[in-house]
Amino acid sequence: MAKVLLGATGSVAAIRVPDLYAALRREGHEVRIIATDASTYFFDPAQIDPLPGGARNPEVVTLDQDEWPGERWKRGDPVLHIELRRWADVLLVAPLDAGTLAKFALGLCDNCLSCVYRAWDRARPIVLAPAMNTLMWQHPATSRHQEQIAADMDEVHWIGPIEKRLACDDVGLGAMAEIPQIVSALADALAGGLIELPLWSGL
Ligand SMILES: Cc1cc2nc3c(=O)[nH]c(=O)nc-3n(C[C@H](O)[C@H](O)[C@H](O)COP(=O)(O)O)c2cc1C
Repeated sequence: MAKVLLGATGSVAAIRVPDLYAALRREGHEVRIIATDASTYFFDPAQIDPLPGGARNPEVVTLDQDEWPGERWKRGDPVLHIELRRWADVLLVAPLDAGTLAKFALGLCDNCLSCVYRAWDRARPIVLAPAMNTLMWQHPATSRHQEQIAADMDEVHWIGPIEKRLACDDVGLGAMAEIPQIVSALADALAGGLIELPLWSGL
């Protein structure tokens, strides 16, 4: 069983983050979530293992506001994205939206999740489950960014999107993979197996 850092980004597929968290916990994993601001448009962080009284548990769901709590940082205070990186055995980003995909590829780090990625120990696995509109997926930037990430990181596993009617009512490739597929791909990645999915499944 592993310590899974689950990154959630601002795809509509983030509505499934609470179910994905529950599925990973059922497998016996310890799970901490880093949610981008945009992802919280799609799920309520206080729904997931809340504190007594119902408030969000920052030990379960980290938000950017936790990195920047408001009081001036003092020597000895933790650097949260580094603490999270140290804690985790594996980084799973599901859903991975186009914006964060681009940030990862370019090395931009302007929120907690992208800082964790940039500070990642490259010997540890990263599992990425993109989710976006079909035309976003087919944009040339997608394959460019995937290739850059594959070149930068030692162990990246892709869980390709699937085809279905998307939330925007377009039909096509771009939906996040189903939860059981993500759970089993994570298990394969932890076991050191290679996930045979094409980097780029555009036209
Ligand atoms: C209703 C709605 C649905 C969205 N769905 C997606 C999506 O599925 N995939 C995607 O790449 N971007 C999607 N976006 C755009 C992202 O939320 C936007 O690019 C955001 O800045 C991403 O921020 P983040 O990567 O920091 O989470 C959606 C935006 C809205 C308002």
